[in-house]
Amino acid sequence: MDGWLAAAADRRRDDGLVRRTDARRHPRARDGVLDLASNDYLGLATDARLRAAAIVATERYGTGAGASRVVTGTTGAHDDLEDALVTLTGQRSALVFSSGYAANTGLLTALGDPDTLIISDAHVHASLIDGARLSRSPVVVCPHADLGALESLLRNRNEPRVVVVVESVYSVLGDAADLVRTAALCREHDALLVVDEAHGIGVLGEGRGAVHAAGLAGAPHVAVTATLSKALGAQGGAVLGAPALREHLVNSARSFVFDTGLAPAAAAAAAQAARIVDADPGLPAALHAVADVVAAAAGVERAPGAVQSVPADGPGQAVAAAETLLDAGVLVGCFRPPSVPDGISRLRLVARAGVDVDRAAQAADLAGRSVRTPVGGAV
Ligand SMILES: Cc1ncc(COP(=O)(O)O)c(C=O)c1O
Repeated sequence: MDGWLAAAADRRRDDGLVRRTDARRHPRARDGVLDLASNDYLGLATDARLRAAAIVATERYGTGAGASRVVTGTTGAHDDLEDALVTLTGQRSALVFSSGYAANTGLLTALGDPDTLIISDAHVHASLIDGARLSRSPVVVCPHADLGALESLLRNRNEPRVVVVVESVYSVLGDAADLVRTAALCREHDALLVVDEAHGIGVLGEGRGAVHAAGLAGAPHVAVTATLSKALGAQGGAVLGAPALREHLVNSARSFVFDTGLAPAAAAAAAQAARIVDADPGLPAALHAVADVVAAAAGVERAPGAVQSVPADGPGQAVAAAETLLDAGVLVGCFRPPSVPDGISRLRLVARAGVDVDRAAQAADLAGRSVRTPVGGAV
């Protein structure tokens, strides 16, 4: 086994794909660092109101849920969170999981079987890919955002049931799905549309998400998944949709039934965040003001969500540009092959409410110039 692990480590090194968890390299909390990399889109992860809610829940319920939610792990904090998510998104019911990853795998495995075709957009998150693979459903990958291809897959299917899987905002390119037309196709072909709103809730539709903005909240043929760890600044995940779907998941989603409930502190913090977003559309508006400035300064088309994607001339430029920004005290995401296909190496600048707008503009300008600078050249 040691030899096999060493060989795998060598391959990762040769491919330039070594991932690290070194806190010094990701100095999110260090004074003076401008964080344009994290998914804490609204700056709520450090908000005093969320911290206070987490402390109260910890004192009331303890530090852990103690068991699966179907045993003794459901507390008042979980019920309160589900209510707050329903109010924010306009959905008819919510079920909270211990992560967005668990929500996605739980939903797709509970919906899938050999008689259910899963049609998955080519750019969906790993958790949806894994859920589809685990579901024992036949799976087809639809070219990204190609509604013509989707229609033909729906029209020509042989299975009695079909589930279409998309994200409302895609996290690498930052583009948004056309939910109105996708949902109309799904309705026409009697398909269930699953929309992962990990990057939509708290960001689009005045924070209520893209499904709400598209007038689809509560639509019987649409189910939503969410993470509580991005704009809502906490931890955990949820599936939102019809009460019958919730009931089905409570009984058959393995990542719900066989997983310890979300920690009460995280549940209470997320509920507090959902209430803050519900009451204050100015918060997502502040994020969008930063996004406007970042996109303009970087010289890229404004993407609809928080992620502004800055294409580089090549993988070398992307890596060098991220290092230049780190040296300037700015954290950004960097994508290059093999984690993305060749030709789309890029920096990922996350517009976040509450950051210094002038500094964000300077950083975005530097990012735009750096990605076009040959490696080793002056920026
Ligand atoms: C689109 C998408 N779905 C799901 C997840 C998983 O959410 P979580 O981090 O809560 O497990 C992520 C997060 O990375 C994501 O980007």
